[in-house]
Amino acid sequence: MMSCLQSWPEPIVRVQALSESGIRAIPERYIKPLSDRPNRPDTSATVAAKKNSGTSSPPINIPVIDLQNLFSNDQSLCDETLSLVSHACREWGFFQIVNHGVSPELMKSARKTWREFFSLPPDVKQEYANSPTTYEGYGSRLGVQKGAILDWSDYFFLHYMPRSQRNESKWPQLPPSCRKVIAEYGEETVKLCGRLMEVLSINLGLGKEYLQNEFGGENIGACLRVNFYPKCPQPDLTLGLSPHSDPGGLTLLLPDDDVSGLQIRKCNDWVTVKPVPNAFIVNVGDQIQVLSNAIYKSVEHRVIVNAVKDRVSLALFYNPKSDLLIEPAKHLVTEDRPALYPPMTFDEYRLYIRTKGPCGKAQVESLKSPR
Ligand code: OGA
Ligand code: NI
Repeated sequence: MMSCLQSWPEPIVRVQALSESGIRAIPERYIKPLSDRPNRPDTSATVAAKKNSGTSSPPINIPVIDLQNLFSNDQSLCDETLSLVSHACREWGFFQIVNHGVSPELMKSARKTWREFFSLPPDVKQEYANSPTTYEGYGSRLGVQKGAILDWSDYFFLHYMPRSQRNESKWPQLPPSCRKVIAEYGEETVKLCGRLMEVLSINLGLGKEYLQNEFGGENIGACLRVNFYPKCPQPDLTLGLSPHSDPGGLTLLLPDDDVSGLQIRKCNDWVTVKPVPNAFIVNVGDQIQVLSNAIYKSVEHRVIVNAVKDRVSLALFYNPKSDLLIEPAKHLVTEDRPALYPPMTFDEYRLYIRTKGPCGKAQVESLKSPR
């Protein structure tokens, strides 16, 4: 089955190079059909600006949750935080966290080191060019469908976990601090995701360790995709990342500190996320939707680009061990609420997005057992 994923169907063009070439009109292969384009000014606005723009969507932002009290000895403070997370998972599938334990300095240096990587000369980055077999390295497309309309972004993808798949020699050697920062960032963010898994597990009534154990305990998967969204001369015609839900378990996103661009689908509207300082954005992926029997839902999201500034984001994907069967927790399957999804390994599941590229929520929805 993997044979179809050995090479890209067309020569790879770096979006950053296109952007820096000074073109005024973007090539046709980045122009989305009318119905998929961001409809400005509604979507270009930050939440605050929206208020004054007179457009229809309400000025809302995803919940911001302070995790400080999670580590408190005071049980009622701790419970209050659990309940805020529970509400955010049920109602939004997306929330921001502050006081999460990862130092602001590390967050800052992670952004800085990756910005520096993307500003290296093209031939230096090219040494890390990736292929669709593993996606590891420097890439410019998701999916191998010939003739697909592409997204306006480049990325760097690497593995942290399991340890056996972690290959530091595939990580950027430049800037000089890069590998050290990547390693430290992985250490801290994987730890934080482990804690969030406990919170979700408790909130679902499954016991603290359940979700992590289903994911393979120590043997979970974790990978990082650093997204680089170059300035775009015609941002209204394209997207930085097409609508998708994240296929894995949890995503911990470190957004750009300067430029917004992430939008989530809420009641058929696209809401622009306005990041707060030193926060991570957390979202539930398809595997948690399956395990929770859709009590928590992965939410569709996309990224818009702009004509003025590049944007960098770091997405840490926390995934099940890839060969374990993931299925709805027995405890959440009842006569009234039968199992909505059949068991499937993450390896099988991930092949879909790796072949077709981002496709909204088509995959997890197509899995639903007939009722
Ligand atoms: C992703 C993603 C959002 C962003 O990498 O899956 O949704 O803001 N990124 O870059
Ligand atoms: Ni995503």
